[in-house]
Amino acid sequence: MRFDVLTLFPGMFPPVLSDSIIGRAQAKGLLELNFINIRDYTTDKHGRVDDYPYGGGAGMLMQAEPVVRAFRAITADLDYRPVCIYMTPQGQVFRQETARRIAKDFSHVVLLCGHYEGIDERALEEIVDFELSIGDYVLTGGEIPAMAVIDAVSRMIPGVLGGQEESFREESLYDGKLLEYPQYTRPEVFEGKRVPEVLLSGHHANIESWRKEQSLLRTKMKRPELLEEET
Ligand code: ADE
Repeated sequence: MRFDVLTLFPGMFPPVLSDSIIGRAQAKGLLELNFINIRDYTTDKHGRVDDYPYGGGAGMLMQAEPVVRAFRAITADLDYRPVCIYMTPQGQVFRQETARRIAKDFSHVVLLCGHYEGIDERALEEIVDFELSIGDYVLTGGEIPAMAVIDAVSRMIPGVLGGQEESFREESLYDGKLLEYPQYTRPEVFEGKRVPEVLLSGHHANIESWRKEQSLLRTKMKRPELLEEET
């Protein structure tokens, strides 16, 4: 799977995405990440990429030209058009099901990160297929949302998680639909608190049903709305 990120701040990405599972996925060739600096595509001699909004109002807008030129530079050598997703609080809220669908339906995704007060509407009309928000709050730019999308989608790609995690992930019950059950590791007693007896019993069926029950209980207590939703 390939992600190309269009951003004014390409340096934000490698420190976050070069380590751990996402770093290994790239090393294994399962994932290709490219960070493209929109500023490299301005024709302004001072390297300017923003300007005042027509009609007035607070802040600056990203200009259409460098954004569209950056996108066209990606697609120039391709015989297909990659899907382009704009990260904005105006988009559909990104959920586990969205991550699953992107991983399944697309092999090449362009993520467009806005800054300042947004991007000239004509660039969005020209290149964007759909918009995603990572939640109902406003960040200073689309970079952190893009990283969240890359991370959540990449772990759905076969081979990216280790064998055990992968089979766990495929049990859709625990992947975005129910909260995880409580987990324990050694020691058996920590500051007087014992690990629940059933987990020490070696009785797999009992362990399984205890975990399911705990998952349901936790979801009911902490996130009851998850049980009412369809995804
Ligand atoms: N850009 C700024 N805030 C955002 C959010 N919540 N989701 C996606 N992109 C954004």
